[in-house]
Amino acid sequence: MDIRREAQHRPIWDSDAVDSPVCPHGEAPYYDEALGAWILSRYSDVLAAFLSTDLFPTGPHSKKSSEPPDNDAWLKTRAETLDALSPERLGEWRDHIAPLARKLVDSIPTDRPVDLLREFAQPLCLELAIVATGVTHKDTEHIQELARDVSASAAEPYDPSLRSHASAANKELRCYFPSGPESLRDSGFVALAYTLPCLLANAWFALLQHPEEWTRLHQQPDLLPQAFEELLRYAGLTQILFRRAIQDINLNGVTIKKGDRLILRLIAANKDLERFPQPDQLDLTRRGVGHFTLGAGPHSCVGASLIRMAALVITSPLLERFVSANLVKPIQWQGGSGFRSPVSLPALLKGTRS
Ligand code: HEM
Repeated sequence: MDIRREAQHRPIWDSDAVDSPVCPHGEAPYYDEALGAWILSRYSDVLAAFLSTDLFPTGPHSKKSSEPPDNDAWLKTRAETLDALSPERLGEWRDHIAPLARKLVDSIPTDRPVDLLREFAQPLCLELAIVATGVTHKDTEHIQELARDVSASAAEPYDPSLRSHASAANKELRCYFPSGPESLRDSGFVALAYTLPCLLANAWFALLQHPEEWTRLHQQPDLLPQAFEELLRYAGLTQILFRRAIQDINLNGVTIKKGDRLILRLIAANKDLERFPQPDQLDLTRRGVGHFTLGAGPHSCVGASLIRMAALVITSPLLERFVSANLVKPIQWQGGSGFRSPVSLPALLKGTRS
């Protein structure tokens, strides 16, 4: 058990970090008194929790007696979002972002290091967030500040000060997104403008750690859609999710009582040896990946098709234009027990035309 506890009993499993030299190992479910939760880390246990209709999504601070969210409202939100993310709409947004990504790639110099996060991923993700949510307010800088506060608390949900800033920011942010499908309002803006660059940064960090794999994708661009799924498995973002039991249940032989909280360790499950041969190896040709980075089951990420489209449209021009890339400095990390990603990605790129 490699858990490290910090203030507020914040759970940090060092082995779940993207840059950890050791691979997490799945353990049988156990109840952690300090965290007040069952800890699930094996792929089969996390999958069972995702699929169970007797568990509902919650957060680290909900009360034992809290009620599950309204079922009809949840189904309506999912249906509305899926409707808003039709293939036609995704195609329009892809056509908007693709030329911007290509233009930005062409402006990247090869004679000095470039921060792939700040100079490339972040501006493109912000543009996508503006287009997809349709936010029209001129005060985008202030909207970004508010969204940054919300994102910081999602990255470290156990920090009370971040939580209180996020709560105030959330209320104000909401006013800038008065209409549209629920998931494509303030929360969609935060996910696209702030969470997506973090997801890309983790995936690109993994590629920068494996320069030969970057070159392979440069030479075989058709491999990218499948390879990106492996990058999501290997360098996933969300570290933990929470569930609460609606009634007494038996989960893979373990009795969970009504009202009990569960913590699902997604990174550990994504690297479970029982499910993935050589889980600590980045294998871009791995088939049928089935990772949990975008959840699974009835509550899986409803924005997954948008995330996949955006990840590919932003990553592919980078790989096409540059034959190799190398990190020039050690990486600083940000975030916490919710998710963690590089602060910057300073890299020197070698172009086909340089
Ligand atoms: C990089 C960005 C994103 C990541 C890593 C991510 C990840 C996830 C994960 C892991 C879940 C499962 C939560 C659970 O089971 O408790 C989830 C659910 C969800 N995501 Fe995303 N997501 C991202 C972006 C988005 C975007 C852009 C949208 C909006 C279109 C979105 C909308 C949702 C919604 C509404 C749910 C709840 C689904 C439900 O309860 O039925 N996500 N996301």
